[in-house]
Amino acid sequence: MAALFDQTMINGMTLRNRLIRSATWEGMCDQDGRPTEKLINWYRDLAQGGVGLIVSGYTFVLPEGKGFPGKMGIHTDDFASDYENLTSTVHNAGGKVAIQLVHAGGETNSTYAGRQPLAPSAVKVDQFPEMPAELSKEEIIDTISAFGEGARRAKGWGFDGVQLHGAHGFLINQFLSPLTNRRTDEYGGSIENRSRFLFEVYRKVRETVGPDYPVFIKLNASDHLDGGLEIDDAVYAAKELAKGGIDAIEVSAGTPASGEKGPAREKILKPEKEAYNLPLARRIKETVNCPVMVVGGFRSYEVAENTIRDDGMDYIAMARPLIREPGLANRWVQGDRSPATCISCNSCFMPGLEEGGIYCVIEKKVQEKAAKA
Ligand SMILES: Cc1cc2nc3c(=O)[nH]c(=O)nc-3n(C[C@H](O)[C@H](O)[C@H](O)COP(=O)(O)O)c2cc1C
Ligand code: SF4
Repeated sequence: MAALFDQTMINGMTLRNRLIRSATWEGMCDQDGRPTEKLINWYRDLAQGGVGLIVSGYTFVLPEGKGFPGKMGIHTDDFASDYENLTSTVHNAGGKVAIQLVHAGGETNSTYAGRQPLAPSAVKVDQFPEMPAELSKEEIIDTISAFGEGARRAKGWGFDGVQLHGAHGFLINQFLSPLTNRRTDEYGGSIENRSRFLFEVYRKVRETVGPDYPVFIKLNASDHLDGGLEIDDAVYAAKELAKGGIDAIEVSAGTPASGEKGPAREKILKPEKEAYNLPLARRIKETVNCPVMVVGGFRSYEVAENTIRDDGMDYIAMARPLIREPGLANRWVQGDRSPATCISCNSCFMPGLEEGGIYCVIEKKVQEKAAKA
């Protein structure tokens, strides 16, 4: 019977357990997207903390695909030694690390993107102030190539795999969603057309890295928005990707415009509130033969273990609990199985925007109080 701390393998990559660090923007890179020593130390702590696989914060493949400050970039060969330093640091600490490749699409602004944001269609995204420009066919082709180039660099620089960001309202998700994709060419309309961009990105990445290298996707199974992407379309995309050899699908849901049903829900303070994407992940799991990862609100050991043992999920992914406790996996392995101490308040975003990097604001207060006592 499958268990949380099983060692597993995905396309040649050994994972020491079934706990994944879900992609988490840290906001610790320089203006251009170059990793800093602070970021590398963050990854060292995560690797030492015992998770089976770290998925990096979202990393832009083209400068115009940048959103949020301090985001990682993989649009240039210039960052080779910095990323090699990051991957070797993780490996020396016994960890594995995949990089999450993203283009923010219309979910950014011209300050971060350096130009008017680009999107499948000129449809404004709630919570982002600017009307994006519709991508031309030529720009679509360039963007697909940029995902391929990002994957080539990632593999060459020692990453153990790549994950496409197909969730949370960013460009791939915008193509999939009828709310943001109003195109009348072969990239819009039916789900076959709306998923064309994703499949072309996946094929380009797969061609670039070859069959023996892990390629994953984080996929929205629902946008939780009226008129947005829904589970049946997500099932179609997942099924086709699985047929095409994707190595794992991480199921998420929601966008920053989805209110209480956004990707990082608040107040996950009792087990009934946990695992909020599990019903959608079950639907994906039923239809694909590749491993399925589920993210969203995992806080207690029991819920995580049951999700593997009874619900048949292959991996549990967590983001916020590992901001507060990078050593959570080791703590559970060593026998202290009390829940993650993260209270799901989302205060950690703010220092990423304003102070050059995320941290757990609550833990900092606890430490300061303890120091004064
Ligand atoms: C500070 C912060 C940064 C995040 N950055 C990313 C990201 O770069 N890519 C991504 O796919 N999800 C990102 N997320 C969403 C998380 O990966 C995850 O899907 C969500 O927080 C729910 O999981 P949790 O309850 O374990 O935190 C971020 C979440 C937080 C709190
Ligand atoms: S600030 Fe700390 S407690 Fe609040 S969500 Fe972030 S990691 Fe969790």
